[in-house]
Amino acid sequence: MTTLGTPLSPSATKVMLLGSGELGKEVLIALQRLGVETIAVDRYDNAPGQQVAHHARTITMSDPAQLKALVEAERPHLVVPEIEAIATPMLEELEAAGTVRVIPTARAARLTMDREGIRVLAAETLGLPTSPYKFCDSLAELQVAIDGGIGYPCIVKPVMSSSGKGQSKIDGPADVRKAWDYAMAGGRVSHGRVIVEGFIDFDYEITQLTVRAVGADGQIETHFCEPIGHVQVGGDYVESWQPMAMAPAAIAKSRQIAQAVTDNLGGQGLFGVELFVKGEQVWFSEVSPRPHDTGLVTLCTQHQSEFELHARAILGLPVDTTLRNPGASAVIYGGMDATGIAFDGVDDALRVPGTDLRLFGKPESFTKRRMGVALARSADTDTARANAKLAAGKVRPRAA
Ligand SMILES: Nc1ncnc2c1ncn2[C@@H]1O[C@H](COP(=O)(O)OP(=O)(O)OP(=O)(O)O)[C@@H](O)[C@H]1O
Ligand SMILES: [Mg+2]
Repeated sequence: MTTLGTPLSPSATKVMLLGSGELGKEVLIALQRLGVETIAVDRYDNAPGQQVAHHARTITMSDPAQLKALVEAERPHLVVPEIEAIATPMLEELEAAGTVRVIPTARAARLTMDREGIRVLAAETLGLPTSPYKFCDSLAELQVAIDGGIGYPCIVKPVMSSSGKGQSKIDGPADVRKAWDYAMAGGRVSHGRVIVEGFIDFDYEITQLTVRAVGADGQIETHFCEPIGHVQVGGDYVESWQPMAMAPAAIAKSRQIAQAVTDNLGGQGLFGVELFVKGEQVWFSEVSPRPHDTGLVTLCTQHQSEFELHARAILGLPVDTTLRNPGASAVIYGGMDATGIAFDGVDDALRVPGTDLRLFGKPESFTKRRMGVALARSADTDTARANAKLAAGKVRPRAA
């Protein structure tokens, strides 16, 4: 049985989000609607989620001492990681001590915080199909890995990075040093380790949103959303749509892979399983144990968005993953480095049929920072994609 309390009272059900960007903001809104008391944590003040939570806290989440002090002071019922750069061994300690429950589990947060933990689990422990890969600690090791079987083309990524940072494709021997240097500059922590992956010449890639939620009998059940297709530029998502039309065999394989990974990671919540598809062949790429950026499209396509699904699943509530209508999302970048920017053309954008917008409210814009997203629903994904891009293009960021 799930009981929820009254926020800001002794009965409150308290949830702490570690990371309060645009994805966390939507999770927080979903929690607020259920009367959950929310604590939004980020590394900077006025992060998107902090603007909609009961409490805002600013700390360095990768610092175990700061993390421990905050969790012990706030005593949330649940700790919900929204980003990867967190002192996850400390979360494991706090979970083991019974201080908090970590979503989905502290172990899942640790395994997915760098590319090595999750890749070794998926490929070696679970035997799932992935790109061929090697981990390397120097330029020399990288060259040996490529010559020893990975071959060209291949992709180099810092083991700790996201949104394509420090990631580049190597087409031949002349690119190796450049890719190494780029990875060293773009990693989250400069301990100089990279993964080199054989390039998969996929037809398309998808995100398979997968929810582990408690069923009526008290057992965990796995639910799948319709597949989300997306386009990445430089390792960063620029548009997504749902449903992605797929061969039935490819859907079945995608779900088998998603089930295997999420069964192992365990706990309750929503996961974004990234997969590459060529014909009926499917490769596992990576997984987020939390809502996925490409899943922003579910705000206009599902009865319950990925954020509502996450909120419900972590609270032990039932979920409904059915699609309501096809739709698409298109990213709005800042286009400039400035603080407190303004957005012209919001009215024009919303005149595009079936559209909606999210402007995240980030205090600071960067050229390639995601500041908002346009959403479009339609009878088919082609129309939705065209309308989402049209609407996104009508929103014009400018210095205020
Ligand atoms: N081995 C590969 N073969 C072909 N394309 C790849 C490969 N690895 C990555 N890519 C492309 O680069 C994109 C980003 O890669 P990946 O998801 O590993 O990086 P990321 O930094 O974790 O991105 P994000 O945090 O946005 O998910 C993929 O979605 C895919 O388009
Ligand atoms: Mg990815």
